[in-house]
Amino acid sequence: MSRRMIIAAVAVMLFALIAHAQQARDRDPRWIAPADAAEKSNPLASRPEAVAGGSKIYRQRCATCHGENGRGTAKAPDLTAPGVQAQSDGALFWKISSGNTHAGMPTFSFLPEPQRWQLVLQVRALRVQPVR
Ligand code: HEC
Repeated sequence: MSRRMIIAAVAVMLFALIAHAQQARDRDPRWIAPADAAEKSNPLASRPEAVAGGSKIYRQRCATCHGENGRGTAKAPDLTAPGVQAQSDGALFWKISSGNTHAGMPTFSFLPEPQRWQLVLQVRALRVQPVR
């Protein structure tokens, strides 16, 4: 093999490695909220201004794993994915509250309920944020 071919092969391998590292972690479609939790509606649904607080909490507590724009990182899945957005507000609230600690999603039941509903508004708002 020529030197040039070796260099090209190494470059391709490095590129593949970087591309893979930047890919968001896959979501687990088998993690499903119980029906009674999924039925709950967001008490802040009629108060869209409450999203500002949600955005702040998101940046403090969620962005390190899910990414500033919610598109996911190697640590956590994309929250703008159709499979996430198709879930009800109640289902997202339940997932944020209970977490899935063995899979790496922490429990946020220690946050007051209104803050967790604000986070649900924020997860919805991520859909329209530009991809960076
Ligand atoms: C330590 C990393 C980490 C932090 C911090 C974190 N998450 Fe997660 N999150 C995860 C992982 C990992 C999963 C995937 C869990 C699984 O596969 O079952 C997840 C899953 C989720 C899901 C479910 C997505 C789906 O596919 O149904 C939601 C909603 C969510 N996170 C919201 C949040 C919010 C809101 C915050 C901040 C309050 C947050 N997460 C903070 C790691 C994290």
